[in-house]
Amino acid sequence: MRGFILGIITTLAVIALAGLAVATFGLMPTNADAVPPSIETRIASSALDASMERHAPRVNNPIPPTDDNLIDGMKVYTMNCSVCHGTLDNKPSALEKSLYPPVPQLILDPLDDPEWHIYYAVRTGVRYTGMPAWGKALSDQDIWKVTAFLSRIQKLPPKVQDYWKNAYGVGPPAAGPDQNPGQHKD
Ligand code: HEC
Repeated sequence: MRGFILGIITTLAVIALAGLAVATFGLMPTNADAVPPSIETRIASSALDASMERHAPRVNNPIPPTDDNLIDGMKVYTMNCSVCHGTLDNKPSALEKSLYPPVPQLILDPLDDPEWHIYYAVRTGVRYTGMPAWGKALSDQDIWKVTAFLSRIQKLPPKVQDYWKNAYGVGPPAAGPDQNPGQHKD
């Protein structure tokens, strides 16, 4: 039994040292202009989902989704998020493929996550990606407003849609991937 435990400890030590050697000798790639292998994407996505599931409090949005609050959320998005997640003229961000992992395009491929999930991702950010922790930069109110906006991209009330059209020339992308001519494939 003792030999067995010693074996495990030795194996773990060798793995840790190998990891350290890879990092020390510059063998770890640091370039962000590569496409992550699909196995890495799969493992990282499930790790993220599992961590959110465990850590994110199940809270309701304290801000009512009135027209004014949704328009405020749209403004917060335009000022802080569109550079990475895509502008409201329904074009993908120029930075989409410049980050590792690539940035999800939240206007062209709207989220279908619950609001507590979006709020947590926005407030605390996502480690080892380009997603900042906005809790250190925006008020809690603004984070809830942009959360309300992002969770309703395809079901915004008419007045908010009109505001979007007047400000950006085009309206929100149509609901359903098949009816969306500007659909963003990757
Ligand atoms: C510098 C680029 C950048 C900016 C600016 C940025 N994000 Fe992100 N965001 C990312 C990246 C990269 C990811 C993907 C993280 C990953 O792969 O898990 C992400 C992920 C997200 C997610 C999670 C999506 C999911 O699938 O669960 C949400 C929600 C989000 N961002 C909202 C926002 C909001 C709201 C803002 C503005 C207040 C913002 N982001 C600003 C880069 C950015």
